[in-house]
Order: sequence, then structure tokens, then C-alpha cells
Amino acid sequence: MRLASLSLEDLRVFREARLEPGTGINVLVGDNGTGKTTVLEAIQLLSSGRSFRGGVRDALIRRGQPELRVYSEIVAEPMERRVGMGLSRSLRAWSARIDGQAVEALTRLFQELAVVCFEPGSHALISGGSEHRRRFIDWALFHVEPDFLSIWRRYQRALRQRNALLKQPMVSANLDPWEHELALHGAALTRLREAWLARLQPGLSAMVARFAPGLGAVTPKYSSGGSPASDGETGLLAALWQARGRDQALGHTSVGPHRADWSLAFEAAPVREMLSRGQEKLVVLSCLLAQAQAFAEVRGQWPVLVLDDLPSELDRGHLAHTLEWLASVPAQSFITATAAPELPHASCRPMRMFHVEQGRVAALLY
Ligand SMILES: Nc1ncnc2c1ncn2[C@@H]1O[C@H](COP(=O)(O)OP(=O)(O)OP(=O)(O)O)[C@@H](O)[C@H]1O
Ligand SMILES: [Mg+2]
Repeated sequence: MRLASLSLEDLRVFREARLEPGTGINVLVGDNGTGKTTVLEAIQLLSSGRSFRGGVRDALIRRGQPELRVYSEIVAEPMERRVGMGLSRSLRAWSARIDGQAVEALTRLFQELAVVCFEPGSHALISGGSEHRRRFIDWALFHVEPDFLSIWRRYQRALRQRNALLKQPMVSANLDPWEHELALHGAALTRLREAWLARLQPGLSAMVARFAPGLGAVTPKYSSGGSPASDGETGLLAALWQARGRDQALGHTSVGPHRADWSLAFEAAPVREMLSRGQEKLVVLSCLLAQAQAFAEVRGQWPVLVLDDLPSELDRGHLAHTLEWLASVPAQSFITATAAPELPHASCRPMRMFHVEQGRVAALLY
């Protein structure tokens, strides 16, 4: 899938801007603070309603304005299906449109556009809390597994109910129905997540061999947060039951897939504390590119790749290597940099360069 056009209105520094990206690598070049990352943020917003910068969502709206708007025409395979996606935010609320029609659930919009993003904060996938790693896998499941969203929602609902009951004087029988729900949907979640991690393994091994060969073979390990996937629903139900006393004291549910995590062990670095900061970034890059590739294998089309500030994240050799890889796959990508990086010559993928100035984006001849 790719963006045929992208328009921003009252997003941070931009009053109004529009660009028509190419189908291959798109490079956004400009000085610090001109709006390069904001363009990537707009793409990320359309695909998830979140900014990778985090923080207050209303800070995205241009100072003094009531509303921000982002619009893009997406081209999706097969058949080059065109979809108009619109997202706006005002008064702390999002509203979304597909082909001009308002959609109630934002997730309908997010299903249309899959974006894999590498940015200066991405090292959190290795060094940050487990929520980053769960979100990584759940992103893929949301896009490739039709049942995922409904399973996830039902699990979250049961979790809220059990947590609310745990804060009241204990009547154990009240917990029963919610624990059954948690066990049923939780076991399904664990199965899906473990299967996706296993699916990623070969591609991830190849990416690590390419970007960080010194680390040797990689072994992913999933920890389910409760009972192992092989114990299924019954195992999770027993774990919840056993944890009742402790959970009541804590006031929340301490076992289940909402506590799950995964890690990577390398031949040359069995624990993550042995990775240098730069190696962490290369591992994260490998994870993200492997994820994009696995998505493409399952869905038959590539997600959009956005890579913020790439030259300051990677050394020259790894930068060149990454650009070569990007030029070799049929994915649309967006890269920001303060100075134009040297792009691979032997590419058959069309490349486009844009210059970003205080709130303006201009296409450069290339
Ligand atoms: N709500 C807002 N209203 C107006 N301007 C804003 C708002 N939020 C951020 N800005 C400004 O938007 C500009 C663009 O920021 P952005 O992070 O996109 O720049 P950048 O080109 O990626 O810079 P860098 O090279 O430093 O990463 C900055 O000058 C910032 O101060
Ligand atoms: Mg930036």
C-alpha cells in the first residue's frame, strides 16, 4: 500500500501543505525544526491516531487553531484500490472519514493503512517497558489476523470487570464469569502472539545477519504473562484462580496476556544489557524491517515505512545498507534528514526528494 497524496492542515508548524510522494523512497530534507518529523507524524496519525512522539494530542494542533486535519489518498493492492482517508481532531476528539463518509470506529480507518515506523525513540522496543513489545506484535495481528480485534476487546472488557471487582469486598463467585472470559480470550491472544513471533523468526534472523552480523544467531522467547500457551484456557483459568488473593491485595490482575513480554537472545549477547546503544538500534531496525516483510508475505502488499532522522541514528555504513535494502523492496518509504543522504544508484525504485522549510514542503527535481 502507498500514499498517492498527503495533505496537512493546522498540524504543528503547518498551516496547509500537500505532497505527492513517489512509490519508492521519499526523502524529506530540511533544517532543524522545519517540520520534517511532523510529516511522518501525519502518516502515523492516519494509521493509528497516535503520534510516535507521545505527549498531549492537542499539542499537535497548530497553536491558536481549533482543529487539525490530515488527508491522504491511499492506493492499496490488489487492483490498485484507491481510498480517501481523512482524520481531524478538535476539542480533544478525533473524527475520521473514508471516501468522504464519516466512520464511527477509528479502527475502520486504521485498518486501511499500515505503517512501520523507526524513529529516535524506537530503541524502547528493546530497552523500554513490555508494553512496547506487546504493541509491536499486536500491531501485526491487528493487520493480518481478522479475529484479533474482537478477541483483544473482549479480553480487555473482562480484565476491566475483574479489576473493578477486585477493588470491592471479595465475593469470589462474581469473579468466575470474568475469569472464564479472560481465560478463553487470553489463551487465544497468547496463541496468536506466539504464532506471530515464531512467524517472524526466519525473517528476523536474516535481518540481524544483514544489519548486525556480529551478534550471531538470534532466538526470540515469548513469555505469556500467565500460563504457557500449551496449557491453553485451562492453564490460564487455574493461574487466575490461584492469583485471586494476591490480586485482591494488589487491586489488579497480575497474570494474563496483558502482562506478556518477549525478548531476543543473541549468540554473542545472551542478555540485552550486553548490547551497545547502536546495536540496540540495529536490532530494533531488524525487528521492524522483518515485521514489514512478514506483513508483506501475509497480506501480499507492503506496509508504508517511515524512518525519522535516519542519518543521525545510524553510522554511514549502516545507513547505506538500509537505503540499499529500502531500494530493493517494493515498499513506499519516507526518510527525514537534515542533509540529503547519498542514495543508492543501482535502484530501479523511483525516488523523490522534498525540501521542508518552515511549514512548507516543496518537491525537488531528482
Ligand atoms: N502545536 C504547534 N503549533 C505550532 N508549531 C508547533 C506546534 N508543535 C510544534 N511546533 C513547531 O513545529 C516545528 C516542526 O517540528 P518538527 O519536529 O516536525 O521539525 P523537524 O524538521 O523534524 O526538526 P528536527 O530536525 O529538529 O527533528 C517546530 O519548529 C516546532 O516548534
Ligand atoms: Mg525531526
